[in-house]
Amino acid sequence: MCGIVGYTGRKQAAPILLDSLSRLEYRGYDSAGLAVRNGTALAEVVKATGKLHHLADKTDQGRALAGCCGIGHTRWATHGDPSLVNAHPHVSGNCSGSGSGAVESDVVGVHNGIIENYTELKEKLLRRGYTFYSETDTEVAVKLVDYYYKKYKIGPVDAITRTMVRIRGSYALALMFKDFPDEIFAARKDSPLIIGTDEEESFLASDVPAILKYTRQVYYIDNHQVARVSPGKVVFYDLNGDEVPMPLTEITWDAEAAEKGGYEHFMLKEIHEEPAAVRDTLNSMVKDGKIDLSQTGLTEDVIRSIEQIDIAACGSAWHVGMAAQYVIEDLAEIPVRVELASEFRYRKLPLSRNTLVIVISQSGETADSLAALRVAKERGAVTLAIVNVIGSTIAREADHVLYTLAGPEIAVATTKAYSAQLIAADVLAVHLAAVRGTVSPEREAGLLEELAAIPDKISRILEEKDRLQWFSSKMANTHDIFFIGRGLDYAISLEGSLKMKEISYIHSEAYAAGELKHGTISLIENNTLVIGVLTQKELYEKTVSNMMECKSRGAFLAGITTNGNFSVEDSVNFTVYIPKTDEHFMASLAIVPLQLLAYYTSVNRGLDVDKPRNLAKSVTVE
Ligand code: G6P
Repeated sequence: MCGIVGYTGRKQAAPILLDSLSRLEYRGYDSAGLAVRNGTALAEVVKATGKLHHLADKTDQGRALAGCCGIGHTRWATHGDPSLVNAHPHVSGNCSGSGSGAVESDVVGVHNGIIENYTELKEKLLRRGYTFYSETDTEVAVKLVDYYYKKYKIGPVDAITRTMVRIRGSYALALMFKDFPDEIFAARKDSPLIIGTDEEESFLASDVPAILKYTRQVYYIDNHQVARVSPGKVVFYDLNGDEVPMPLTEITWDAEAAEKGGYEHFMLKEIHEEPAAVRDTLNSMVKDGKIDLSQTGLTEDVIRSIEQIDIAACGSAWHVGMAAQYVIEDLAEIPVRVELASEFRYRKLPLSRNTLVIVISQSGETADSLAALRVAKERGAVTLAIVNVIGSTIAREADHVLYTLAGPEIAVATTKAYSAQLIAADVLAVHLAAVRGTVSPEREAGLLEELAAIPDKISRILEEKDRLQWFSSKMANTHDIFFIGRGLDYAISLEGSLKMKEISYIHSEAYAAGELKHGTISLIENNTLVIGVLTQKELYEKTVSNMMECKSRGAFLAGITTNGNFSVEDSVNFTVYIPKTDEHFMASLAIVPLQLLAYYTSVNRGLDVDKPRNLAKSVTVE
């Protein structure tokens, strides 16, 4: 999704903006641009299609753009193709071409989000004599601000608030006005935006890693607010134009956490950070051998009153929900329904005060997950968010929040955040079970002991990564892969398959092993790779039988199973052994070889592992 950055201070803005944009690359984009002000001179706008280094080359790494105040943008095309003319920043001026160079304009802006009624607004502006050079909704927003600014001769804040009440949709906007040389004005509704400050400078960004190197003092601008950002100072306004005080938050993440630290890719680094992410998350929830979820405010009374749990999430976070349902149902005996957030938001699900809706999200900004949360709240359910980014919108809006401590995750394909979510969901399941009396205190202690041992077991799996690297080199030219399993193993298969396809571009599917015969098995040909996840004792033989059915039709089989528990080597061509743990928690271990397999396959195919094509890490539009 689009990334926004901004800087105003004493230093040259362009190199800082380029650096910050490079830290947002993981969000996914197809063009980029900068606008920089040098005192009272006109804003200089430079844009480039494709990767950020084209923009860096065009501006001599930012040195060609003089000025200490500027905004930058990486664009993930929604309205209009990914061309130069559609790239941001957009200007209010009457220009031909792409709106680059020193542009005679009163307002210059960048935007993340979608303005739904832009056609209607564009027609209004056309009638008022405005012309448009791009196909974007952003140009419409910038020109609407310009229109109010001039019509009512009001200041930037009022011009922006008037615009905000006219536009529908989602937006994070950063705007510069010709008459206010060292200031940036920002506005937000439903799209992420943070503002960092230091003594003499201020920063804007769509996400924390973009500015972590420069400051840890951050404001989270609220929905329907405008911020006036000057060097070292930020003032917030509501829609009436009245000042509102906003708290400054200290980010605790390490700046190094957002660096590659010697690894070739962020994804590999983040897989290696899984033991720490899991341990830190566990330690925040289990203290002195006892589960302590007081940070969430979820009381035992609420837990006892729950009759139904609905989990809503997207992508890998949804896979965490798929895994969690088996664990919660089995341990706590509460019925669980898992829904894709994009479906949940439009379903007329009956919810009540006794329904707990759990929204899982790494970023805390995914548009569909946020919408699902709001629907759940409207319908009277109790809501709990499992979120990684402190202060994100989902975290702020949920009734209760459980933070995962994975630190910043940069690779688009999630690994450590998934693992942290999984462990958080497992501890929650144990807690629900303990409070409701469906597990005894002894069993609870035993389960917690198993959970505590998981980080070291993940480290042991990582020590054997060379074998997976070797296997991935053998299968790099495969065209189709099927991941199969039953029960929790099916949930693991879903995530293993997503990891593989999103970064290797090899077609892969996850199937509940018992479902293969109902159609999918016709796709099995000579050497089709079938990976069976075999961690559940009761279901193991059944899945192996399904794998054998594939083998009889030419499939090449790989199996993931626990050390010494089952003997699959006679049946399958390649076996990966993982350490044993309580079967409820097997996902935390079985996923690691699948993540490594996806990683090495992508590397072997020479692909952009951390930034796969067409994908965005944080999907902030519907
Ligand atoms: C995107 C990412 C996925 C992620 C999903 C949900 O599609 O590429 O890795 O699982 O969004 O993101 P969230 O931040 O809500 O967990």
